[in-house]
Amino acid sequence: MLDKIKALQEELEKIVVSGKEEVEELRLKYISKKGSISQLFEDFKNVSPEQKKEVGQAINTLKNFALDKINTLKESFEGAVNGDSGLDLTMPGDSVKLGTRHPLSLVKNEIIGIFGRLGFTVAEGPEIEDDWHVFSALNFPPEHPARDMQDTFFIEKNPDVLLRTHTSSVQIRVMERTQPPIRMIFPGRVFRNEAISARSHCIFHQIEGLYVDENVSFADLKQTLLQFAKELFGEGTEIRLRPSYFPFTEPSAEVDIQCVMCGGSGCRVCSQTGWLEILGSGMVDPEVFKMVGYDPEAVMGFAFGMGIERIAMLKFGIDDLRLFFENDLRFLMQF
Ligand code: DAH
Repeated sequence: MLDKIKALQEELEKIVVSGKEEVEELRLKYISKKGSISQLFEDFKNVSPEQKKEVGQAINTLKNFALDKINTLKESFEGAVNGDSGLDLTMPGDSVKLGTRHPLSLVKNEIIGIFGRLGFTVAEGPEIEDDWHVFSALNFPPEHPARDMQDTFFIEKNPDVLLRTHTSSVQIRVMERTQPPIRMIFPGRVFRNEAISARSHCIFHQIEGLYVDENVSFADLKQTLLQFAKELFGEGTEIRLRPSYFPFTEPSAEVDIQCVMCGGSGCRVCSQTGWLEILGSGMVDPEVFKMVGYDPEAVMGFAFGMGIERIAMLKFGIDDLRLFFENDLRFLMQF
């Protein structure tokens, strides 16, 4: 009997299997009801009483050994690559495609960051506006030719409702509900009835700036814009102010930066002038302060406005404005 047990033990130790099915065969052969180990328990009945203890222990040890081996083998085939679990752990995973920020958002956020460090906070206003906030309160008198500067989309049924042509409207909304000091910028989408081309679009984006306090000078405006230009386009950037006209600022100036393409020596992008216009600005007209209920004797301020597309085109060397609105992934994935 003991020899038989030993032989079975050695047999089991040598067995190698190569699949789940073979493990099941092992179980049937050794430990199922008719298996050879179960058979040993049958034979055990005939063992003499003196031998019972020793033989009993040996059979139990063998049975435990067999159970251990079968369970271990079974587990090793569960979830295996080509077992029938249906799971192939060697398959490559699904990659998650990451998007990128739109170039206009990148530039907008950078501009917000620069003015943020200069103490300007951000506010927004509605895209669907009324005549008062877009024109009248900004000192565009009715029938004034200055209104022709901007080709406005009006709502036919009610000409008092229109799509804002500039973010200067947010100046008015903010001043109407806030007392100075104000140091804010207003990013947003604007609309003009213009033919779509590489250089213009009927939808684009602007950032307007407003600084109102007791003592604000033209020098503050100049210094703020110079600092902005240096941070956005590089430390060596120079700016140039040219006298201009806007109904809501007096005096008004258009601001140029040294051409980012040629560094000022003259090229196709700057039409050989060495300068690129990037924004309009000026000291807030006292008439505008009156419109929002401020005392023009008590406060002063400056304002400026710029197109985000124009700045993004200069920064990234983009030559067609339509690319910003076409959602072509080949373009967008470059940022
Ligand atoms: N609102 C002007 C435009 O859309 C830009 C502008 C010019 C804004 C001068 C200003 C400013 O605040 O002072 O053309």
